[in-house]
Amino acid sequence: MQKDKEQEGNMQTETPQTMKAIQIHTYGGPEVLVYEEVPRPRVAPGEVLIRVCAAGVYPGDWYRRSGYTNFPEADRPPMSVSLPFIPGSQVSGIVETIGSGVSAFHEGDAVYGLLRFPGEVPAECYAEYVTAPAFDLALKPASIDHLHAAAVPMAGLTAWQGIVEHTNLSAGQTVLVNGAAGGVGHFAVQLAKARGARVIGVASKRHETFLRELGVDVFIDYATTPVEQEVRDVDLVIDTVGTMEYNSLLLTLKHGGRLVWIGLRPLKNGMGTEYAEAGVTIEKIQVRSNGAHLAEIGELINAGRVRVTIDAVVPLAEARKAHERGEAGHLRGVIVLHAAE
Ligand SMILES: NC(=O)c1ccc[n+]([C@@H]2O[C@H](COP(=O)([O-])OP(=O)(O)OC[C@H]3O[C@@H](n4cnc5c(N)ncnc54)[C@H](OP(=O)(O)O)[C@@H]3O)[C@@H](O)[C@H]2O)c1
Repeated sequence: MQKDKEQEGNMQTETPQTMKAIQIHTYGGPEVLVYEEVPRPRVAPGEVLIRVCAAGVYPGDWYRRSGYTNFPEADRPPMSVSLPFIPGSQVSGIVETIGSGVSAFHEGDAVYGLLRFPGEVPAECYAEYVTAPAFDLALKPASIDHLHAAAVPMAGLTAWQGIVEHTNLSAGQTVLVNGAAGGVGHFAVQLAKARGARVIGVASKRHETFLRELGVDVFIDYATTPVEQEVRDVDLVIDTVGTMEYNSLLLTLKHGGRLVWIGLRPLKNGMGTEYAEAGVTIEKIQVRSNGAHLAEIGELINAGRVRVTIDAVVPLAEARKAHERGEAGHLRGVIVLHAAE
């Protein structure tokens, strides 16, 4: 009897070996996102195990899910990841276990991060638990909940690295943000305003009030106004939409101006040289994980200078609906999966 009780007690404290997660067994439409039981990840040296409260969703998640079929064949990245895999690169949650060598975080800390990005395999954030390199994490901004925090890492870091790290934007300069209401765009607008720039936001009409509230000085509805005919003398274009076949937004730049291109497809050979002759430069950037940069964004959020917008919250088990929403387009902010409180 006594022994039975002891066994029962031991079973109750044992860590479960499995968890629920979304897995992709075959490339295809949103229906290939399957909610099922999988092994729970184990923490390695330099990492922490996070109990996921929320996971952010971004366009790369559905590009990868579909096997990049929306890309021209020549531009498709190598499909190095083996099936099945758990998608997702960004998370907000609670530190459950600390790996050896980690001193920056403690059990119970609320953290957020873009994990192992860019990497050949996704960081597996569409799950109840995920392991994360400590370097990729920052403490969650205290002023926002996990749902809002999960919306920040990918889009916020892309905008921050594009505006703060890659360019030397100064007060009084003019920035044009194309795709201004989307995940990256809405952070880019606010980061440019925070640096004292004049901001032109390009989006569809439905986002005008939202973007004016975020601080855009000039709003342009791309459906009714040809931007390249209306705008001149821009110092910096942040383009989250255009392709590099030919980018008409280059015509809006002043001599010495710069276009930062945030898209997945590679730059066409020779593009740099071609536009150097016109006195403007073009730079494709690739976001990367960085906990220190996230901590800086967190300070701006806590100070009320950057507002995080969620387009939709979807339960983790119904991730399919999140991808359906994403692929319908016209996002305002970021889609988030809700995993736990
Ligand atoms: N380089 C990198 O490291 C990096 C990092 C993150 C994301 N990305 C890529 O960057 C792109 C944007 O990401 P995101 O998360 O911001 O996407 P998103 O949230 O879907 O935002 C895209 C925005 O563009 C607007 N839009 C669509 N067509 C437009 C047009 N012709 N002119 C102006 N705006 C238009 C959409 O709404 P409206 O049409 O209603 O205005 C939407 O608000 C994706 O391709 C993503 O994969 C790259």
